Amino acid sequence: MSNLPLVIVAAVARNGVIGDGEKLLWRLPDDLRRFRALTMGKPLLMGRRTWDSIGRPLPGRESIVLTRDADFHPAGAHVARSLDEALAIGEARARAMGASEIVVAGGGDLYAQIIGRADRLCVTEVDLTPPGSAVFPRIDPEVWRETARETHPAGGGNEAGFSFVTFERRDRSAAQPVEIRGGGA
Ligand SMILES: NC(=O)c1ccc[n+]([C@@H]2O[C@H](COP(=O)([O-])OP(=O)(O)OC[C@H]3O[C@@H](n4cnc5c(N)ncnc54)[C@H](OP(=O)(O)O)[C@@H]3O)[C@@H](O)[C@H]2O)c1
Repeated sequence: MSNLPLVIVAAVARNGVIGDGEKLLWRLPDDLRRFRALTMGKPLLMGRRTWDSIGRPLPGRESIVLTRDADFHPAGAHVARSLDEALAIGEARARAMGASEIVVAGGGDLYAQIIGRADRLCVTEVDLTPPGSAVFPRIDPEVWRETARETHPAGGGNEAGFSFVTFERRDRSAAQPVEIRGGGA
């Protein structure tokens, strides 16, 4: 069993959209700064499409890329072929890095599979409604309690208003258990 918190970090438009292929949907430098602060020094779990859209390892963090493709070997990242393997590697790398938590950095496919196991959601609510193929799963208020909200208007290079919102799982014992088999990395 994992003891380290599993934290989802995502920027989500009003209509739930988080991405559309490799297109940039918004320009929010303050959100990029927050993403950096929330993820620095920690292992990041991400789907292969998100890895492709970032295009490189993020400095100061260790990426664990999920893929079902046995021939995919990203340079500068760990690879996991299943959710449980990704969580096991995340746990091992967090302990090796001295990190206090494991971060899930997207995208929509991975968020949908893992939200049931997460302990905290760090969501940037973006005041836009762009079309897009990747979406964030529903945040069920019976499961998640909002514990912090910081609202910012557009400006200072940020093209839209946005809010930094934190949700904590109401009942941590209700999170689906994270079974660690082996370890790895
Ligand atoms: N706004 C935000 O905060 C944010 C954050 C991250 C990403 N995004 C956006 O989200 C979009 C990408 O999201 P997405 O839903 O298309 O894809 P994704 O979640 O990034 O990646 C999906 C891929 O991950 C692999 N995968 C997923 N679950 C797996 C499992 N259980 N076991 C093994 N491999 C697994 C598969 O890769 P293979 O096909 O290689 O098998 C799958 O095709 C992009 O537009 C990106 O810009 C937005």
